[in-house]
Amino acid sequence: MLYQLAKVFRLSLLLQLLLGSFLPIAASSMSDLDNASSSSPSATRRCPLTKPNGSPLKVKRANSTTNAIPIDVSGEHEFRMPQKGDRRGPCPGLNALANHGYLPHSGITTIFEAIVACQNIFGMGPDIGGILSVYATLMDADPTTLSWSIGGPFNGPLGLGGSDGLSGSHNKFESDSSPTRGDAFLHGGDGSTLQLDYFKWLYSLQPESSPGNYDLDVIMQHRRKTFDFSKQNNPNFFYGPAAVILTQASHTFITRLMSNNTENGLVLDKNTLKSFFGVTGNSLDELQVLPGSERIPENWYRRPDDHHLVDFAIDALTLYSGNPDLLKVGGNTGTVNSFTPLDLDDLTGGVYNAQRLTDPNIFVCFMYQLLSDVLPDIIKTPVTSTLGIISQLVSQYILPYYSPDNCPALTLDTSKFGIYPGRQGSGF
Ligand code: HEM
Repeated sequence: MLYQLAKVFRLSLLLQLLLGSFLPIAASSMSDLDNASSSSPSATRRCPLTKPNGSPLKVKRANSTTNAIPIDVSGEHEFRMPQKGDRRGPCPGLNALANHGYLPHSGITTIFEAIVACQNIFGMGPDIGGILSVYATLMDADPTTLSWSIGGPFNGPLGLGGSDGLSGSHNKFESDSSPTRGDAFLHGGDGSTLQLDYFKWLYSLQPESSPGNYDLDVIMQHRRKTFDFSKQNNPNFFYGPAAVILTQASHTFITRLMSNNTENGLVLDKNTLKSFFGVTGNSLDELQVLPGSERIPENWYRRPDDHHLVDFAIDALTLYSGNPDLLKVGGNTGTVNSFTPLDLDDLTGGVYNAQRLTDPNIFVCFMYQLLSDVLPDIIKTPVTSTLGIISQLVSQYILPYYSPDNCPALTLDTSKFGIYPGRQGSGF
């Protein structure tokens, strides 16, 4: 029965790819996408696989004299707590976008819609947004509509398909040693909820009496803490190839995408940090979290330029330089403090090694191939099993922004991961 359903899904997707149109049921989730790109000549297109030609995004540009891009949090973009049935998950950026209606309040979105919102509101370059959004689709989308949930599971049309959402993506996307989300093994399988202790570690890295500024140096200190904590407390800590990349992003995005563009430059002070993480309270002892209440502060100006893949690569390499262990794929082997690294040279047949990855271009190659090719091939999901879909999505949403010419071809030896009890879901 399941096999037959899977065949129906694949057939349905294949037809959609061939016909370039989508099930009517998908149309409602696309209406916001149409709004987001309403100035584009192809605004009437409804298929999430279709990116408008020419200038694809209606991008917010900084005022040339003041360098300012204010983000509207009034009217239709006023903060609204999620209602019953709305999904919120491990990503504070996506949660805030949904709470302000820049993504649907339901928390169910599509590739292009997420790329547009992340760029317009946070200044996330469409090369990064493209990779993350395509990866989310491949790992977690409903195979019948290619919509994905930023939080918990949802059902597909007519009860077919559906997906677990980002909250159910442990080891595929959501990983151990996150900035504020706990390790799934230590929290009854929940790797999506903010743990106040983790937030307090970060918060207290700036003096109690000062407004604070959580710049990359501060984030580096926090990264050391989160990695060491998982090693020292989680016997099933798993730090697979995806985590080596993605957990650096989830740390550096805090400072790179949440900072306010003030007259003193980009500053992430305590109040802004608390707002984006849904935390309230005026002192360390008073801090409280209301899950799902991530909020864009009043008078918040996004960064004036976009944050691109190569910018992220340089940040990630900065984190690695402060803690070389972060570059080692591995995990604990069933007891705490048993972190056993695998040799990247062995894993990749000598194509990549820690030394080569310190070149930002090679690092971007590694990231690109891992997330858009190698892992989707290893981690089988209903979407990745669909004929041709990986290359279709990559060529429509990633290649226009990033050309992987001259990247050394990456393959991964998957046979070496058996020693890690925490690897479930990772495909290894
Ligand atoms: C399509 C776009 C995006 C996708 C698919 C995505 C997905 C995710 C996922 C799966 C996680 C959990 C990672 C982990 O367990 O370590 C995460 C964490 C995070 N994301 Fe996003 N994200 C996106 C855009 C953004 C944006 C625009 C921001 C802007 C601030 C952002 C900021 C963060 C931060 C700070 C974390 C760390 C959360 C924590 O542990 O405290 N993300 N994201």
